[in-house]
Amino acid sequence: MSANISPVRGHADVLVGLQYGDEGKAKVIDLIAGDYDIIARFNGGANAGHTIDAPAGRVVLQQVPSGVFHPHTQLYIGSGSAVNLWKLKNELDLVEAGGVDLTDRLFISDRCAVVQPAHFIIDETNSADIGTTKNGVGPCYADRASRVRNGIRVNVQLRDLLADPDTVMAAMRASAEAELSRLAGDVQHLRERLDASITSLLECIERVRPFVQTDRGYLGRRVTAGARVLFEGAQSLMLDVVHGDQPYVTASHTVPAYAYVGGDLSPQYHRYTIGVAKAVVSRVGNGPFPSELGAERAEAYFAAACAAGRGKAEENADYLPEELLRSADPMDLGIALRMLTHEYGSGTGRPRRIGLLDLQQLREMVGLFGVDVVYLNKVDCLALYKESVYAGIPVRLTAETAARDGEQVRILPSFELSAVDPAAPELLPKELLAFRSVVEQEIGAPVIGVGLGPERDRTAQFFRLGEHRLQETRT
Ligand code: IMP
Repeated sequence: MSANISPVRGHADVLVGLQYGDEGKAKVIDLIAGDYDIIARFNGGANAGHTIDAPAGRVVLQQVPSGVFHPHTQLYIGSGSAVNLWKLKNELDLVEAGGVDLTDRLFISDRCAVVQPAHFIIDETNSADIGTTKNGVGPCYADRASRVRNGIRVNVQLRDLLADPDTVMAAMRASAEAELSRLAGDVQHLRERLDASITSLLECIERVRPFVQTDRGYLGRRVTAGARVLFEGAQSLMLDVVHGDQPYVTASHTVPAYAYVGGDLSPQYHRYTIGVAKAVVSRVGNGPFPSELGAERAEAYFAAACAAGRGKAEENADYLPEELLRSADPMDLGIALRMLTHEYGSGTGRPRRIGLLDLQQLREMVGLFGVDVVYLNKVDCLALYKESVYAGIPVRLTAETAARDGEQVRILPSFELSAVDPAAPELLPKELLAFRSVVEQEIGAPVIGVGLGPERDRTAQFFRLGEHRLQETRT
C-alpha cells in the first residue's frame, strides 16, 4: 500500500482496455494482483474472454474475475454484469476442478442481470451486422431497460430467479417462445436449445446460489475496512455503448467511471485508472478501425472469413506467414501478423483484424477518461515489422504531430529483444526506451510497463503504481 493511503481505508483502481478488447488485461492483472485484496467485474458478461496461465495450464475464463488463481484475492461480480448461468456453472466447475476453492472467495451481486434463452435467440438471429459474440449480452441489457415486453416481465435479476425459480423460468420460456414465433423458417435447432437451457437451468441456479451476495454494501464495507480493490473492465473503451462507434459496440459501458456504478462502490474510493493497450492492435467484430492494415479490403476479408467459418486452422493451411510478411500489400502484412502473433478470438475463434499502433486513438482515450498509466503489451511482436516493407516500427502519429511534421505514420527504429532481462528495464535496448518515450510523449501518459512475451515474467515494469509522481508526466 502506498504511503499516502490510510491503513484503515482502502482504495480502488480501475483497469480498462484502451482499444477494442483483447489487449492482455488478464495478464496485467496477473502481474499486479499481489497489490490488491479484491478483483471485481463491473460490466459485460460471457462475451468477454480472458486467457489466464493457471498452475495446471492455460484457461480461458469469461465471467469469473481474473484474480482467481491468486488465492489471497477475493472476487466480486458487480451488479453491472450480465450473468450467463450455464457458462458460469461450467467456469466454476473448471476452476474448482483445478483445485481452487471459491467458498468465501467469490461473491456475485444478486442484482446482476440474467441472460435468458430469448436473448440467445435474438442475438443469434440479429448479430450479423455488428458481429457480436452471440452470447445474448446485448438483448439482456436491452431487456434490463425494457422491464416489460408484450405483457411479459423481461428484466430478470439474479435475486428474482433465486427467490422464485419456477415463476421466473416460466416467464423466460414465454418470452423465448414469443421470439421463436416471430421467426420465419426452420427454428427446430433454436427450440431444442431452448428446451435444453430451461431443463438445465435449475441445476445452474443451485450451483451459483452459494456465491450470491445480497448485501449491496459489501464492497463498500470491505474498502472502509482497508481492502484494496482492482476493477477489471471487460471489453474496452472503443467498444463502449455510448462512446464507441454505434452500432459496432458492446451493450454495456466500458468506461472507467462505470466501475463505480456496475461495481457497486462509491467513487470516493477511486485512486488510479490503469489503461492496457497492445502494440499490434486488433479488433474482432465489424466497425471502424482507422489504423487497420489493408483498410476496407481487410474488413471485407474478415467478414467473409466469419461467414465461412474460416479461422486459424484454415489460414495456416492456406498461407505462409513469413512470405506474406514481406509483401508490399498491407493486407498481406495484416494476415501475416495475425498468424505470427496468434490473433484469433479467445471466445469465438474468429480471426482478428490487425492494425498499426494508433497513438492518436490512445491520446484521445487517455485524455477523455483520465488514464493515469498505460501498460503496452505485445511490444516484442513489433520486431516482426523489421522484415516488412516498413523495415522498422510504423506507428500512427497523433493528429497534432502529424500536422506539425507533415507525416501520418512514422517509422521508428526496430529493437532486438532476444537477450533482454525484463527485470532490469533500465538495461533494455536504447531503441526500445526511445520507442517508449515517443509513445509517452504522443499519448500524454506514462508507460508503466511493456509486454515482451506472453509469460507474466516477460513484462518489464518501469515503476510501481503509487511510486510515481503521475501528474508530472501527464501533458
Ligand atoms: P457483444 O458484446 O457480444 O454484443 O458484441 C459486440 C461487439 O463487441 C462485437 O464486435 C464483439 O466482437 C465485441 N466484443 C465483445 N466482447 C469482446 C471481447 O471481450 N473482446 C473483443 N471484442 C469483444
